[in-house]
Amino acid sequence: MNDLAQRIDDNIARVADFPQPGIQYKDITSLFQQPELCNEMVEAFAEFSRGKIDAVCGIESRGFLFGLLIAQKLNLPFVLVRKQGKLPPPTVAESYELEYGNATIEVQPQYIQNGQRFLVHDDVLATGGTAEATAKLIEKCGGKVVQFSFIAELEFLHGREKLNPFTTDIQSLVR
Ligand code: PRP
Ligand code: MG
Repeated sequence: MNDLAQRIDDNIARVADFPQPGIQYKDITSLFQQPELCNEMVEAFAEFSRGKIDAVCGIESRGFLFGLLIAQKLNLPFVLVRKQGKLPPPTVAESYELEYGNATIEVQPQYIQNGQRFLVHDDVLATGGTAEATAKLIEKCGGKVVQFSFIAELEFLHGREKLNPFTTDIQSLVR
């Protein structure tokens, strides 16, 4: 692990038995007590994407936190992908499978231009289902997903394999 990755990892709080017994929850909200570390993270994200994208898409809700900061740092537009029913019309939707049941996300298509190169950003890459559905949604609206970035990637869940068909240009600050 590099120095930044180590400091991020050291500052992510671990909570036992949440949201279910036996699960250790990694709580990224503890990072926001370290504003200088957050600035370094934004710079690392921006460096990865600078000159390669035209817009940033953040995934509700924790993908909004750094997503907008990355877009602002690069002086680029920011698009929100939200859970169903939160955005006003017009919206375009995409449904995807969860471990139990399914979920639907939406975007406002008027903010996606034909051929616009997108970074999809979220806090955590786990199974990859959320990021994959987001990429499908952006591309359904005419955008092109050219990068993904995450604070943390849970490699043992192999989420990256779902994203490789869009692009292999994937950044995770901590693995
Ligand atoms: C978490 C996390 C990612 C997603 C990753 O979000 O913030 O968005 O799960 O999981 P996946 O790779 O298996 O799809 P969650 O749905 O818990 O919602 P939140 O961001 O609103 O807290
Ligand atoms: Mg999330």
